[in-house]
Amino acid sequence: MARRKKIYEGKAKILYEGPEPGTLVQYFKDDATAFNAEKKATIEGKGVLNNRLSEFFMSGLNAVGIPTHFIKRINMREQLIRSVEIVPLEVIVRNFAAGSMAKRLGMEEGTPLPRPIVEFSYKDDALGDPLVPEEYIIAFGWASQQDMDDIVALALRVNDYLSGVMYGVGIKLVDFKIEIGRVWEGDFMRLIIADEISPDSCRLWDVATGQKLDKDVFRRDLGNLADAYTEVARRLGVLPKNNGSVTKPTLIN
Ligand SMILES: Nc1ncnc2c1ncn2[C@@H]1O[C@H](COP(=O)(O)OP(=O)(O)OP(=O)(O)O)[C@@H](O)[C@H]1O
Ligand SMILES: [Mg+2]
Repeated sequence: MARRKKIYEGKAKILYEGPEPGTLVQYFKDDATAFNAEKKATIEGKGVLNNRLSEFFMSGLNAVGIPTHFIKRINMREQLIRSVEIVPLEVIVRNFAAGSMAKRLGMEEGTPLPRPIVEFSYKDDALGDPLVPEEYIIAFGWASQQDMDDIVALALRVNDYLSGVMYGVGIKLVDFKIEIGRVWEGDFMRLIIADEISPDSCRLWDVATGQKLDKDVFRRDLGNLADAYTEVARRLGVLPKNNGSVTKPTLIN
């Protein structure tokens, strides 16, 4: 393959120049990080699973009219996406208290929230992605009031879609994080879902047992992360049948 220009290498993914203007190739690595990259590991097969799972969720969202950057999966670790200008926010939607919210408010993890709560952190690794109020976002010009109204509406639509899909396979969507990007069509700017949707960016609990099937398995040393992600993929029918493991190279194009 011809050498490609690397645009950006992050903690979990690499972005390469795409085959056409306005496109990028997103490569999913096996690297896992937590606590602002203080904890690191390589988990064989994670990238393959997240590529597949993000494809599944993003193409599902596209199909029901919620726009995303996803165009198509290219191979086991790569997908073709639309290049966007990332809004420098992590958009978090919570259905049940967990993680930093549970800690901050002294709530027991798993407490149902009165309604889905959308919150924002400012994407800045050096600052540890601090939680910011909408007031800051608008005052500092990271997004306009109109953008924020659209972002909240998008985030809640993603929440409805994802929680329904997950509940259908016996998994509770506790919370998740998305990133939003801007694309221009002529003079018209649109906001679309970017980055990834995978067990790296969601909290997923088995409905029956409460077993964690997301990155908390890694954060809290609860077992094998790839096994948990494989279970999510298996339930969603994302893995080829009779293929319990994707850690060995197999042709699944
Ligand atoms: N469609 C897109 N166009 C442009 N950039 C994107 C797109 N989708 C995701 N990105 C960006 O690509 C990077 C993906 O890499 P990764 O998730 O590994 O980064 P990261 O280590 O989490 O760092 P960051 O703090 O920048 O998110 C992120 O910076 C993300 O914001
Ligand atoms: Mg990231």
